[in-house]
Amino acid sequence: MTTDAPEILTQMKAGARAMWSAGDFPAIAQRYLWPVGERLVRRVGIGAGEQVVDVACGTGNAAIRAAEAGGVVRGIDITPRLLEEGRHLAEKAGVTVEWIEGDAEDLPVPDESADVVLSTFGVMFAPRHRVAAVELARVLRPGGRLGICSWTPEGLQGEFFRILGAYMPPAPSFAQPPLLWGNEQHVRELFAGTGVQLEFEREMATEEPRFHSGIEALEFNSTTFGPLMAVRAELERRGEWPAVRDRLAALYETGSEAEYLVALGRKT
Ligand SMILES: C[S@@+](CC[C@H](N)C(=O)[O-])C[C@H]1O[C@@H](n2cnc3c(N)ncnc32)[C@H](O)[C@@H]1O
Repeated sequence: MTTDAPEILTQMKAGARAMWSAGDFPAIAQRYLWPVGERLVRRVGIGAGEQVVDVACGTGNAAIRAAEAGGVVRGIDITPRLLEEGRHLAEKAGVTVEWIEGDAEDLPVPDESADVVLSTFGVMFAPRHRVAAVELARVLRPGGRLGICSWTPEGLQGEFFRILGAYMPPAPSFAQPPLLWGNEQHVRELFAGTGVQLEFEREMATEEPRFHSGIEALEFNSTTFGPLMAVRAELERRGEWPAVRDRLAALYETGSEAEYLVALGRKT
């Protein structure tokens, strides 16, 4: 899908960068996402010296684990602040990752140069899904492997997106909802004709350490997670935050396990 409004696309990307820079995303990633990168790298299997690209890598959830497994890793993300934090984490872990500012829809990576392409809850946030999927397939060499984790519409994060979505202005027509990446049929359609054969698994992410209550989880998330902080500020301005706060607290009270889809691919 293309857009005839490149300035809107540019604005969206600048907005995304600001949103992911706000708050303390490294703390969110550590608490909610960190086991997933390790699991994905183990599942895909990375051999010493393999060329790995982690798309929308954030602070290096998959990238650092891939480097620990022996990969030669490039971590690409649109938000420089997170790359900076990733650099510190990689240093602490004693591994080398090349951190590159870049867009999942226009990867700064040559054709067919990667043995493995990974993305944990990352590529799902690029607005044009087909453009991003074609990019992932382009940089994979024939025989290369793909591993993508995305929240499912059926899981806790799906409900989180729906609660907030009801209060947000509609996205431009070319921008598809991130949760579609959590649907097997949609992901198959995205990679149709790219040579990537897919299979799927569903897994659960659990925060660590656990919160004691929904209110505690809400308090942490709404003062730490940039995208939610931005929504909260807007809803407070409109006087609508209390209703949303209560719904989110009730959601977090129901449990802490969030389902995600693992899309595993191989390029023929
Ligand atoms: C939920 S975070 C996940 C980060 C990391 N993969 C992890 O598992 O912790 C989403 C990431 O997508 C990045 N992102 C959003 N839109 C992007 C785009 N168009 N291109 C590259 N990165 C993007 C954000 O900067 C952020 O780092």
